[in-house]
Amino acid sequence: MNREKAGFNDFTTLNELHMNSKELFARACKVIPGGVNSPVRAFNSVGGDPVYIVKGNGSRMQTADGVELIDFCGSWGPLPLGHARPEVVEAIKQAASDGTSFGTNTPREVEFAELICELVPYIDMVRLVSSGTEAVMTALRLARGYTGRNKILKFEGGYHGHTDCLLVSAGSGLLTAGISSSAGVPDSMTADIFVAPYNDIDAVRQIVSENANDLAAIIMEPVAGNMGLVPSKPGFLEELRQISDDCGALLIFDEVINGFRLGPTTYGNMCDVTPDLTTLGKIIGGGMPIGALGGRKDIMESLAPLGAVYQAGTLSGNPVAVAAGMTTLKILRDENPYPEMARLGKKLADSVNSHCAEKNIDMHIAQLGGVFTPFFRKEEIKNLEDAKCCDTKQHAKFFHSMLKSGIYLPPSQFEAAFVSAAHTEEDINIFVEKTLLALQ
Ligand SMILES: Cc1ncc(COP(=O)(O)O)c(C=O)c1O
Repeated sequence: MNREKAGFNDFTTLNELHMNSKELFARACKVIPGGVNSPVRAFNSVGGDPVYIVKGNGSRMQTADGVELIDFCGSWGPLPLGHARPEVVEAIKQAASDGTSFGTNTPREVEFAELICELVPYIDMVRLVSSGTEAVMTALRLARGYTGRNKILKFEGGYHGHTDCLLVSAGSGLLTAGISSSAGVPDSMTADIFVAPYNDIDAVRQIVSENANDLAAIIMEPVAGNMGLVPSKPGFLEELRQISDDCGALLIFDEVINGFRLGPTTYGNMCDVTPDLTTLGKIIGGGMPIGALGGRKDIMESLAPLGAVYQAGTLSGNPVAVAAGMTTLKILRDENPYPEMARLGKKLADSVNSHCAEKNIDMHIAQLGGVFTPFFRKEEIKNLEDAKCCDTKQHAKFFHSMLKSGIYLPPSQFEAAFVSAAHTEEDINIFVEKTLLALQ
């Protein structure tokens, strides 16, 4: 691949550091549990040693071994503009040179909250935190504090970060590792959690009818991304809205992945379904650590210092993260790369799917906009049960074949991959070519 085009012409300097992924992982395993700071990075479900990345530019990344990869994992979602977009890097430099943290209010956070409220009209107020997990944790506490109820309904295969009470039937890393719920979470923490199959409105009705007066919130991803990409069925979000209204529970859309991924706003706004609270993360930090929750004014005003629901954070609204996020959101708003990301996503999926249909290969690519998952099963995936029927061995083989061909995908069957604004037609053509080879 063209290293200079990707901006890797100072590659020799990096190589002089004599790093390689295998040695780095061996060293890491001695000082970091499992060698990783987040479980799926360990490659347990696909086997082999994980890669170490030294730098990224646009759609490309470079490993410590000096190999260039086209990246379709995109840091698990925060990078719709690709790696090291110059305006974002410049904003980070500028903010950092002004001081990395003050623990006070800053002008940037006001502008950022205004921007989010402008882009998502049903968000009246925003509270910034430092991760998606924190945003969800706060949203649940707020829902419980506001309604005076305790019970929460979530969906099978939904991952909402590693907050204790939601680590049941969770997707993403837990699903990848085959863990149904985490050790270290007392039963008392999950006693108030109900779980329904995704896209199953009858199951939701059943649970709600038996617990209508105790339910504080229904939390869900409007497009599920943590059992692989599974869009909600037409009408499902509207029905959840109605059910929540009828029983007085809050509807929380967890848009940590969805938000600003399919359009320059939330998915709820694109579908015209208004949740009471929305959790955001990933993209709104432009690659820096951030999270946010936002929603209706009367609910948000229950947060301290106005209300009795406590939440705080030393680095909340961190000026460097806010600068990166604000620049990213403004570029997404002004340049609207979404139609092109969707075109490339569709081309990628259609090309592979028609090949699989023709050759009778047990695999298909689910795709929505620039989001996709190669599922090793012919049939459409509508929920966790379907996702679990995929052939994970074939997926692991495919993953490694793609990696050898210079393409980096999420190292798990149960994750979403991303086409960014930095991906080109050539990147998509290479993806398709290598996929067809890998499937031979
Ligand atoms: C839908 C969803 N919610 C919450 C989270 C947690 O976000 P974070 O990893 O920033 O804590 C994730 C992370 O993948 C997510 O996908």
